[in-house]
Amino acid sequence: MHRIGVLTSGGDAPGMNAAVRAVVRKGIFLGREILGVRRGFAGLIEGDVEAMSLGSVADVIQTGGTILLTARSQEFRTPEGRAQAFASARRVGMDGLVVIGGDGSFRGAFALHQETGLPVVCIPATIDNDIPGTDYSIGFDTAVNTVVDAVNKIRATATSHERTFVVEVMGRDSGFIALTAGLAGGAESILIPEIPFDLEDVCRRLLRGVRRGKHHSIIVVAEGAASAAAVAAEIKARTGFDTKITILGHIQRGGAPTAFDRVLASVMGAWAVELLTGGERCGAIAVKGGQLTRYDLPEVFEMKKEIDEGLYRLAEVLAI
Ligand code: F6P
Repeated sequence: MHRIGVLTSGGDAPGMNAAVRAVVRKGIFLGREILGVRRGFAGLIEGDVEAMSLGSVADVIQTGGTILLTARSQEFRTPEGRAQAFASARRVGMDGLVVIGGDGSFRGAFALHQETGLPVVCIPATIDNDIPGTDYSIGFDTAVNTVVDAVNKIRATATSHERTFVVEVMGRDSGFIALTAGLAGGAESILIPEIPFDLEDVCRRLLRGVRRGKHHSIIVVAEGAASAAAVAAEIKARTGFDTKITILGHIQRGGAPTAFDRVLASVMGAWAVELLTGGERCGAIAVKGGQLTRYDLPEVFEMKKEIDEGLYRLAEVLAI
């Protein structure tokens, strides 16, 4: 394997650049050529590819976003689109591909491999942390820290005005960001799609907190569980509390990656190249219990990523 492609796909995640840097630098260290594909699978279809040098990834380890740009390609979802992508890969002599992205990107990479035989290795990168088989995906830690920072700030104004705030966070259909940031931010209640909740109970907890002298209440809601507006309206109707909403939105996808995400991205990016040069055909990288590990890609699709219910119950107890 001499010429290895690398692309970022789906929603950007802080640390993607650190992963690209590791792929490029480790690849060159091993005497390989690295081709950067712009705009994910859409760019592969169009042949939007450039040779990467050591210098092309200088000064990026600390940056959010992705220097390779990213996209969600509808065309790549079709066999015709994937055939075109493979034709472009062949044209530039690409004989292996590192895909940095989320669940949808993993599925795209698998389809490409199945239909064309192109060796692929996937690196988990999504703020949602919803990829089965890995404890962490690149970008999650940074997003959680962004949310916690926002919650800290909201807490100051919430206390000053004795208000209730409902903070809506991302996560698509999962509650990993909400649970982790809610616990770390000391939220009074955390609402996530994986665990049923009762707004009557949420209000009971709010009233109990106020009775024992709390000056504010913060409820963190995952976008996949409910909208902040609906939760706030319900709380206001049931308790009469002055209830404000904050939707954190895309600021959760930006910002400088944390040291944790940079290290995770660096080791995963370097290992992806080692795997491909060692003959990997269709793998997914993960970190389990602090150890790097690999799966055959289809294994990932058969696993389910479970929320840590113990953490959820602990957050309930600690926010009493
Ligand atoms: O998958 C990352 C994510 O930020 C989700 O949390 C969110 O639901 C989605 O992407 C938003 O996607 P976009 O901004 O690309 O429409």
